[in-house]
Amino acid sequence: MTDNLQLNAEGKLKHFLTIEGLDKTLLTEILDTAESFAGMSEHQVKKVPLLRGKTIVNLFFENSTRTRTTFELAATRLSADVINMNIATSATSKGESLLDTIRNLESMFVDMFVVRHALSGAAHFIAQQTAPHISVINAGDGQHAHPTQAMLDMFTIRQLKPDFSNLRVAIIGDILHSRVARSEIQALNTLGAAEVRVIASKTLLPAHVESLGVTVSHNLTEGLKDIDVVMMLRLQKERMTSALLPSESEYFKCFGLTEEKLKIAKPDAIVMHPGPINRGVEIDSKVADGPQSVILKQVSNGIAVRMAIMAMAMQTATHTVHGDRHAGSLPTSGIHTIPGDRHAGSLPACDIHTIPGDKGAV
Ligand code: CP
Repeated sequence: MTDNLQLNAEGKLKHFLTIEGLDKTLLTEILDTAESFAGMSEHQVKKVPLLRGKTIVNLFFENSTRTRTTFELAATRLSADVINMNIATSATSKGESLLDTIRNLESMFVDMFVVRHALSGAAHFIAQQTAPHISVINAGDGQHAHPTQAMLDMFTIRQLKPDFSNLRVAIIGDILHSRVARSEIQALNTLGAAEVRVIASKTLLPAHVESLGVTVSHNLTEGLKDIDVVMMLRLQKERMTSALLPSESEYFKCFGLTEEKLKIAKPDAIVMHPGPINRGVEIDSKVADGPQSVILKQVSNGIAVRMAIMAMAMQTATHTVHGDRHAGSLPTSGIHTIPGDRHAGSLPACDIHTIPGDKGAV
């Protein structure tokens, strides 16, 4: 999804929906801005007033530990007011559409939505529908994108291995269902990595994966040669619609990262994982907790990187003229379509006055 919706007329970040379509200068600006926030966690007062008076709503329609919490911490450190919508107890459970939920929250003078949704394109859809002064940040949509995860991973890599042009990065595991992998590949290629290699069984790779700008290996021991950065991925069973592997133990034998296999990569290689990790499935505990692992560093860096993205987007949105809502018919096809969204369209032709099973007054 190439997407200028996320940039204003001057090329400044207004929404953060996908890495696709963003150039190296902008990605570097995000990393540099995050650098300026990174030391704040050690300060006694961990706050700056950049977003004072702004209201941010975390809208997580899917579960999350790292992303939701670090977005909340980031917003708090920027002095914004943060609302964490509890989707399970919200009117979504009564059948309210995504768009109606957004319209109602907009009416409460919200300035930013941070959105995680199981459907690819959900954050993009919301960005198309919201008023121009509102920013939308994608916190993971279906199999499509997880751009803030990619940026915090780029930040972590740059801290330890500053020259992307020398880096060979391996992304290992369930590439097929991974929004993280798609965003990582785009970010690494945009920042000029020497090679992005995906290592997986054929069943866990998308068709024509080479067209994403990667080299491909189906063998972990061969694929790890000369690698500087090892990125492990979880098997995303919640998105698997058929059996794609014989068993978890078989998978671990072929694609699980052990201390022995890690030795095939460069001696100073770092090991990354976006989390949540499944020990003994894609990664051995000795590697996850070992000296080459930067998994918890990734989590910590999520705060500074998300602060940077929120501050940059909000600054752009604040300078946008209020009241000029995006033009807007509902998108009807492709990745922008939100199945199950009942908002679209005209009223049904027939009237339904009886509600089966409803014996009482409305
Ligand atoms: N990496 C990541 O998205 O983790 P959570 O699902 O815990 O947010």
